[in-house]
Amino acid sequence: TAKRRRRIRVWCDGCYDMVHYGHSNQLRQAKAMGDYLIVGVHTDSEISKHKGPPVFTQEERYKMVRAIKWVDEVVQGAPYVTTLETLDKYNCDFCVHGDDITLTVDGKDTYEEVKKSGRYRECKRTQGVSTTDLVGRMLLMTKAHHSNIVSITRFSLYELRSEYKAKLLLSAVLGHFRLSGVDLVCHGKTEIYPDKDGSDPYAEPRRKGILRTVDSGNSLTTDAIVQRIIKNRLLF
Ligand code: CTP
Repeated sequence: TAKRRRRIRVWCDGCYDMVHYGHSNQLRQAKAMGDYLIVGVHTDSEISKHKGPPVFTQEERYKMVRAIKWVDEVVQGAPYVTTLETLDKYNCDFCVHGDDITLTVDGKDTYEEVKKSGRYRECKRTQGVSTTDLVGRMLLMTKAHHSNIVSITRFSLYELRSEYKAKLLLSAVLGHFRLSGVDLVCHGKTEIYPDKDGSDPYAEPRRKGILRTVDSGNSLTTDAIVQRIIKNRLLF
């Protein structure tokens, strides 16, 4: 039998603020370059020092990165500058970063040391999405824009596995949505707003007796995120 190949350990680090598909696409590419993916996430104070305060707290950012399926391990409070010492500490062969340059507050490339030693790999940065852009878009939202965005996201249905082994759909279903083949409709503990014509968007599942409330265990809402961004802007 062939000798078993040593597992390649890959390191990534970053702020991972307002986690978006650009971040998960980066982690997907990094994982594909090896076998085991370790992601170092910077603390709030490190990020504030180098590029301004993040929207999400470190504890929230650790959780969000841990939830990405390509991530095997999260290192909390990884230093902003990536050193050989860090790669060695976590026994990583190399680190992977998108093809954009990250600078320290004094304008130094944060990957200088690992690039020089050949323990740096690049992946493609995802075009068209960034935290900065998301923050800008959220700041431009008026209350009216905001409710439009909420109703768009209501269309997205996430299939979950339920303990009833039924098909569980997590969504706010609009009145005209067809519920054939759906056993359960779930909504979080947030208030259910009436549709534009004043009707209950959950009328059909309610009538069928298949509407359940689920507890996300978290009180975060889009509105709360916008409030945080405004507060950050005032401080920064
Ligand atoms: N990344 C990516 N594509 C994007 C955004 C980020 O591939 N659209 C990658 C970065 O290249 C980096 C990792 O995701 O390897 C973490 O990036 P992060 O430190 O969180 O910050 P930024 O690169 O500034 O990304 P953003 O502006 O979205 O916060």
